[in-house]
Amino acid sequence: MSTVPVIAIDGPSASGKGTVAQRVAQALGFHYLDSGALYRIVALAAKRAGISWQDEAALADLVSTLDIRFEHGEIYVNGEQVSDAVRSEEMSRGASEVAVHPKVRQALLEVQRAFRKAPGLVADGRDMGSVVFPDAQIKVFLTARSHVRAERRYKQLMEKGIHANLAQILADIEARDARDMQRSAAPLQQCSDATLLDTSDMTIAQAVDGVLALYRRHSRGISK
Ligand code: C5P
Repeated sequence: MSTVPVIAIDGPSASGKGTVAQRVAQALGFHYLDSGALYRIVALAAKRAGISWQDEAALADLVSTLDIRFEHGEIYVNGEQVSDAVRSEEMSRGASEVAVHPKVRQALLEVQRAFRKAPGLVADGRDMGSVVFPDAQIKVFLTARSHVRAERRYKQLMEKGIHANLAQILADIEARDARDMQRSAAPLQQCSDATLLDTSDMTIAQAVDGVLALYRRHSRGISK
């Protein structure tokens, strides 16, 4: 097993875990893995190749043909920049549909583990602590009440000048939560060894400090 430290941050959609994970990675000088982007990439590549999001075998084969790179905050697949394309609401839904297939999850396992490089990794997703990095030094389950998550997403979209409907966003978030929690392969769950961080009444900075405090406490424990 690798001794490179991993901070696993799992949680539901729009919980702010991506932002928190990136800032923690920046503060520690660690690498960052946005595992949700991988499922979004599979959904996008499948759509373009005419492969159904229900075709488990074809989706799993497709993964091996994808050259995926994260560079300077952008996502490239087979040389093409797809950062915005994978962020659409359609690909949010597609990602959660392709993510139910065990063969797709298996095909992405090694892709994800390859991100574990010195001096350390902060990984965010749904099964970072439970399946991909079960030996992670720190496991956090980061969540917020669904209404708070919907309002945050709504504000983000409005700030970007994108028209949005709060009730629709809340319904989409709750549908995705249900699909992520109820699937049989690596469902979204709080591991027994994960620390719960409910950010409903916290700022991003407070959530980042919370994770960094956990990591420092862990590092002190090791050096004692
Ligand atoms: O985190 P993000 O919203 O980008 O993830 C998109 C979808 O990918 C999630 O709704 C979930 O179904 C799936 N996913 C997953 N396992 C992960 C990360 C994301 O199943 N580790």
